[in-house]
Amino acid sequence: MDLSECNSCGECAKVCPVAKPDEYQMGLSSRKAIYIPFPQAVPCSYILNMDDCLGNNPIACGKCAEVCEKKAINYDDHDEVITREVGAVIVAIGLDVYDPTEMDEYGYTRFDNVVTTMEFERLICAGGPTGGHFVRPSDHERPKRIGFIQCVGSRNPKIGRPYCSNICCMNTIKDTLLLADHYPDAENVVFYQDIRAFGKSFEDMFQRSKEAGTRYVRGLPGDVEEDPETHNLIVTVENTTSGKLERHELEMLVLSVGVQPPKDLAKISGMLTLSKTSDGFFMESHPKLKPVDAPTRGVFFAGFCEAPKDIKDSVCQAGAAASRGGALLNAGQIQIEAITSRIDEQACKKCGLCAAVCPYGAIVWEKGEPAVVIEAACAGCGACGATCQFGAITMRHFTDDQLFAQVRATLAENPQDKVFCFACNWCSYAGADMAGISRMQYPATNRVVRTMCSARVSEEMVLEAFRCGAPVVLVSGCHYADCHYINANRQTVKRVQRLWDKLEKAGVRPERLQLEWISAAEGRKFAKVMHQMEELRKTVTMEEIEHAREALKPKPKKAAKKKKEEEEPAAAVAS
Ligand code: FES
Repeated sequence: MDLSECNSCGECAKVCPVAKPDEYQMGLSSRKAIYIPFPQAVPCSYILNMDDCLGNNPIACGKCAEVCEKKAINYDDHDEVITREVGAVIVAIGLDVYDPTEMDEYGYTRFDNVVTTMEFERLICAGGPTGGHFVRPSDHERPKRIGFIQCVGSRNPKIGRPYCSNICCMNTIKDTLLLADHYPDAENVVFYQDIRAFGKSFEDMFQRSKEAGTRYVRGLPGDVEEDPETHNLIVTVENTTSGKLERHELEMLVLSVGVQPPKDLAKISGMLTLSKTSDGFFMESHPKLKPVDAPTRGVFFAGFCEAPKDIKDSVCQAGAAASRGGALLNAGQIQIEAITSRIDEQACKKCGLCAAVCPYGAIVWEKGEPAVVIEAACAGCGACGATCQFGAITMRHFTDDQLFAQVRATLAENPQDKVFCFACNWCSYAGADMAGISRMQYPATNRVVRTMCSARVSEEMVLEAFRCGAPVVLVSGCHYADCHYINANRQTVKRVQRLWDKLEKAGVRPERLQLEWISAAEGRKFAKVMHQMEELRKTVTMEEIEHAREALKPKPKKAAKKKKEEEEPAAAVAS
């Protein structure tokens, strides 16, 4: 279609012989193969859905093109990939609505008069399939007793959706006010577990809904049945306020369905190296300090894809994302923290392992070539430095030399009395701070070394701690989905698992190396873990410590090879 030519006269749709369910009207009415997607569409032009069109090769119909005076219809039009170079990306891919089919107890697929809130919206809308006359699907009669069930697909861990969808309570309250306004004789009842009306004027709306006659029953129905004669719906619910079992006969039931991350989220996540929270939405760089920034620099979030939120919050976030992006584009130059990786080309063995573990794609590597760090993209997690076996990567401010020196100095005296802990800057170290400022008591035997991310802790650093006589080594970082560097702590897990194998082979108890996820807010957990580590430390004997010192010494062969490798670059420089 040539959208600039189409003047929306509608002659094409009149002659189109195809009828398909109208997605915008939730399938409650039909549309043609050529149609305006929805009344407020911009531009207001007809689009031709080639999946529905009778065929363009060869042309089996062609009626729309015949009547189009502007010659705006082009059957040879096809999808194309458009490449743009941009300085910032705002991700605003929206949401999907929960499909209640799996919650069979509410009878959505069995009973015509059970609809979702989206279907309700179309049925009561003046631009909807019934012209705003609210009728029930089974007999097209106006229902007088209407029920709403809240939290369908929300706050339900059993179906993998433990989060609150944020908008459903207020949407239902708005719907009850609409019904009361259109049909004062309607009897509305809302079944809920909590009403969350915390936005500006929302509590007022809730009170107005109650004053307008809507009854709110605290309790979610366990079962819905249909009267085969009247097609009325029989809802059985335990009213948890009165403690009584109630039976409601309703003419129509609206399921207040929740929201879920859009289906394209995984695809976008892969493209932009974004990570997700445990509920499946995108994770922001920092929930309080950088709520619209993605962990990947230059990427910002707006709307539902980051978390369920209402229109007002989405608009606020969109404004913030636009200004964050604008500030970046207008800055002229970008300032980054100096904590970045540097690769020594001479020492690089061109293996490419560093590029494989970089969560930001900030290391460019081609076979046979030394790896190169794109400094503007490097966020400084240190996963590459911990992975490089050849000492070719220097992590500025957290160099190998600095970290090994901290390990050795910490364990220089009476190591048998200490629990040695590596803690990531953003969560575990902050968790330790939280325990401290909250005056939580925990054993004074722990010694903490800070790294930016748990992924910075190399196998050699852990082994060095054991060689220095540490009875217990703890590696701690952010919870699995909360790593400040997208998913760098997955490398931590793999490394610790390899270390457990190595320790076992060397005859060292693997549990002497512990891995714990502790968030910045979990001061109590930090204290608890420290108590556990201290109990573990007490079980480690001096014989075990001495055995580990000996058994984990670098193998002479490896040491010689390492020495040779260290000498090679020096010889090359000398020559
Ligand atoms: Fe905490 Fe990565 S930043 S584990």
